[in-house]
Amino acid sequence: MTVTEQYATRQVVRRAPVTQAATTDAPARPRPAGPGPLAVLADAGLEVPVLGGGLVRHVNLDVAASAPALEVVAQQVTRVLPYYASVHRGSGYPSQLSTSLVEDARAAVARHVGARDDDLVVFTRNTTDALNLLAGAVPGDTVVLDLEHHANLLPWRSRRVVEGRATIAATLDALDAELARRPAALLSVTGASNVTGEVLPVARLAEIAHSHGARIAVDAAQLLPHRRVDLAASGIDYLAFSGHKAYAPFGAGALVGRADWLDAAPAHLAGGGAVEAVRIDGVDWKHGVERHEAGTPNVVGVVALARALAELERLGDRARHEHEQALTLRLHEGLAAQQGVRVLSGFGDGLDDPSGRGLGDRLGIATIELERGSVGLLAAALGAEHGISVRAGRFCAHPFFERAATRSNGLRASLGAGSSADDVDRFLDALAALIADGPAHAYDRSPDGWCPRVDDRPRPDFALA
Ligand code: ALA
Repeated sequence: MTVTEQYATRQVVRRAPVTQAATTDAPARPRPAGPGPLAVLADAGLEVPVLGGGLVRHVNLDVAASAPALEVVAQQVTRVLPYYASVHRGSGYPSQLSTSLVEDARAAVARHVGARDDDLVVFTRNTTDALNLLAGAVPGDTVVLDLEHHANLLPWRSRRVVEGRATIAATLDALDAELARRPAALLSVTGASNVTGEVLPVARLAEIAHSHGARIAVDAAQLLPHRRVDLAASGIDYLAFSGHKAYAPFGAGALVGRADWLDAAPAHLAGGGAVEAVRIDGVDWKHGVERHEAGTPNVVGVVALARALAELERLGDRARHEHEQALTLRLHEGLAAQQGVRVLSGFGDGLDDPSGRGLGDRLGIATIELERGSVGLLAAALGAEHGISVRAGRFCAHPFFERAATRSNGLRASLGAGSSADDVDRFLDALAALIADGPAHAYDRSPDGWCPRVDDRPRPDFALA
């Protein structure tokens, strides 16, 4: 029996309005002719079950949280697996190959981000891990903005938070004033907000930091998968990012940057591989990347990360940017036309506004709040009834969310290299229908969020216990 047959006779339970007041006057959007993905992702064509039976093409608008693997990345991982072996230790051919794959990946990451010759590329689990590593190395205060993801707020031992102002220009002035008021070792900023997608001018921020004798770290978790970042050209001292947001979800990320602080810091992970010699009464720690990479490295993860970055290069920065910009405008214009919906912004300006329509420079991310009703219920119904993945909540950026929003939670739609105009339209149409009519099924609120009262969606064979 197919999934569709299995649920063909199921009845709709009831309708519960998400919000009473909201209606839509969205103008008709011309339907795009077929999908237009730039990149082939491992989830291309994925169908997911919906409540009441049937399968629909999955629309993944939760790419900012975690992106599916590029198909070429999945292929590379499959090719590498038979040769997988211990690194930096083994005498056999697979071990030596695995070692060179890790070191080749390190060189590829360095090239991709424009690292200086003497910068280190330390492989980590993800951006959070990379920033925690850097936090252990900073010889003084770190200044951050209030719009940061918790990964760039919580690790710093001596942290000074500057509240974002109404415009990016005024926010830069506030950072400048704070660094002038009291010296800091580091300014650590996001390259782009994971809530609003607003892009910050990192080269200008680097100038400000350097003019006060501070270094700059950029949390590029969101920026790097969308825009090329060049350390040497932009003056960035440290860059942190995750493979799982860059189409390589195999558990590797990186911290790239200047060696001196990292060489002087305690080992991020204490253990084998990080030491020259161990005595009962002392340790001689290594310098360089090995100091912070104790234990067996994630060979598969770093190979996947390097392959993903190479593929993003092959697809071309300009082509990816133009594709995303067109979809971002489509998304924002569609949201602006929906009543009872407000799109969040951190700033009233954009130093660079390629859209010319007041959006500022944004990645393909839009977070909305509703005048009335629950975004959690809306997100649950989008997933369970329409096969559309989004994220509801405060996006691990509580201080910024509380400043930018008027409600306690938002709903975020985020685009990636595989997104299409059809994805955007499916989301906008489903959103309008849910706001106007409410979900078709009953949902209950649990400590984990909104869940269908009766969830009859089957799991794939491989996920059955
Ligand atoms: N940091 C990820 C997000 O913004 C998980 O959703």
